[in-house]
Amino acid sequence: MALESFAGKRALVTGGARGLGRTFAVALAYAGYSVGITYRSSPEDADRTLAELADAGAVNVGVRCDLRDPEAVSAAVEEIATDLGGLDLLVNNAGMFETSALEEITTEQWDAVFETNTRAPFLVAKAAYPYLKASHGRIVNIGSLGGIHPWATHAHYCTSKAALHMLSQTMAKAWAPEISVNCIAPGMIVKGDAPDPAYQRFADKTPMQRNGTAEDVVEALLFFATGPHFITGQLLAVDGGLGL
Ligand SMILES: NC(=O)c1ccc[n+]([C@@H]2O[C@H](COP(=O)([O-])OP(=O)(O)OC[C@H]3O[C@@H](n4cnc5c(N)ncnc54)[C@H](OP(=O)(O)O)[C@@H]3O)[C@@H](O)[C@H]2O)c1
Repeated sequence: MALESFAGKRALVTGGARGLGRTFAVALAYAGYSVGITYRSSPEDADRTLAELADAGAVNVGVRCDLRDPEAVSAAVEEIATDLGGLDLLVNNAGMFETSALEEITTEQWDAVFETNTRAPFLVAKAAYPYLKASHGRIVNIGSLGGIHPWATHAHYCTSKAALHMLSQTMAKAWAPEISVNCIAPGMIVKGDAPDPAYQRFADKTPMQRNGTAEDVVEALLFFATGPHFITGQLLAVDGGLGL
């Protein structure tokens, strides 16, 4: 079996300046991809990440974009695809998480979460579609265990991610055979943040007896990015069994 070379492949990671998105962008750069990232409110993190991508030897580009703004999304995708000379992989990573009692969620909160977690991945994918169709590329959407299991104080988040999971399956069916589309549902992922008492509680109730790391999610991303293009429409929980 011939191993595919990733040198010269081109990836776009939304929300790539920090958090999981930064880890995805850097891992893809080391795998040989040219990488474009979008960021909104973290320009300094974006500069740091772009420097890391350069250290990895990757052609890289960063574009500031509020993914809730449809025109800004089209412009950002076009700029990144033009700079990279096309697109082979889209990672819809950017998202927002919020805690609120169900009966207290306002219309504005509901809309903001859906615009970020569900509509933005649709808009970014729609703008990237011609490039990915031309390259027979791939889309990986970052969903959530919260889109599979209900979390009482995160109704808008959970519902937006459940919708993203369905969007992933619909995209997979609509855009086959050229584009494969899969979705990762991370569970409790600790990204080197300040210790939180909740972390130990979650680790204790996770069958694998620990929380996830960014690297666990990267492994799943690299599988969908580099594994069989024939695998499409799949939802993969990376949760140590927390959802069982
Ligand atoms: N960490 C976990 O335990 C976990 C678990 C399940 C699922 N996930 C999912 O994994 C993804 C990354 O999570 P994370 O923990 O790394 O999140 P995070 O640290 O909160 O980072 C969120 C990212 O999304 C970007 N973003 C948010 N709203 C945006 C908007 N309107 N326009 C443009 N960019 C926007 C942010 O960019 P700026 O900072 O530049 O604004 C940032 O890069 C999310 O989709 C999240 O739901 C995470």
